[in-house]
Amino acid sequence: MHHDLITIDREAWDALAAAAADPSQPFRYLTLASLGRCQFPEARTVVLRSAKSATRVLEFHTDTRSPKWQELQDNGNTTILGYSDVLKLQLRLRGEIDLAPPGSPEADRVWSRLPPHTRATYQGGPPGDELPPEGDPAARAPISAPEETGRDRFGVLSFKALSLDWCRLERNNNLRARFSYGASGELNDASWVAP
Ligand SMILES: Cc1cc2nc3c(=O)[nH]c(=O)nc-3n(C[C@H](O)[C@H](O)[C@H](O)COP(=O)(O)O)c2cc1C
Repeated sequence: MHHDLITIDREAWDALAAAAADPSQPFRYLTLASLGRCQFPEARTVVLRSAKSATRVLEFHTDTRSPKWQELQDNGNTTILGYSDVLKLQLRLRGEIDLAPPGSPEADRVWSRLPPHTRATYQGGPPGDELPPEGDPAARAPISAPEETGRDRFGVLSFKALSLDWCRLERNNNLRARFSYGASGELNDASWVAP
């Protein structure tokens, strides 16, 4: 395998790890795409919470009442898309999602470390449910549920990458490469492709 490609792969995963640790880094906000129940592709922004290059696993948090949870239960095949304008770099990862539901050891472990303001995002109504018409004070009232209310709605999504499509656009030097990973996260294959 060409040395440059190994370096590119390592730097891509380093960037993801940096984003998981620091909200100001590129790739902190990624697009998670799944297959919707109506056979439409569904894409939404999610916060990258953890990135492990050794195993090629990315972690996201979600409200299990949101439609994506059902979609991912039906079909765990997922694409994660990220673009950094600073780096002029697109990362497009394909993989499978593993769901840790509320009450699972993994969800409980992560929940126990969440700060109160993050826990509060799980205290509202089911994501996507219609709210009372605008202007209704009830729609804007602050939520005052106990902090633990969100625990039974909190789920962890673990995305295991099977491949990475890396694409950097630079004037006169557009580059694109594909990488594939084995079951333990090892880099199995890497090749340049036409951008
Ligand atoms: C900046 C930003 C960050 C977001 N982060 C998350 C997240 O980490 N997890 C999540 O479930 N939804 C997150 N959302 C909301 C989703 O994009 C989406 O609207 C919501 O989860 C409902 O998605 P669904 O209907 O496909 O299930 C975020 C939205 C924005 C704008």
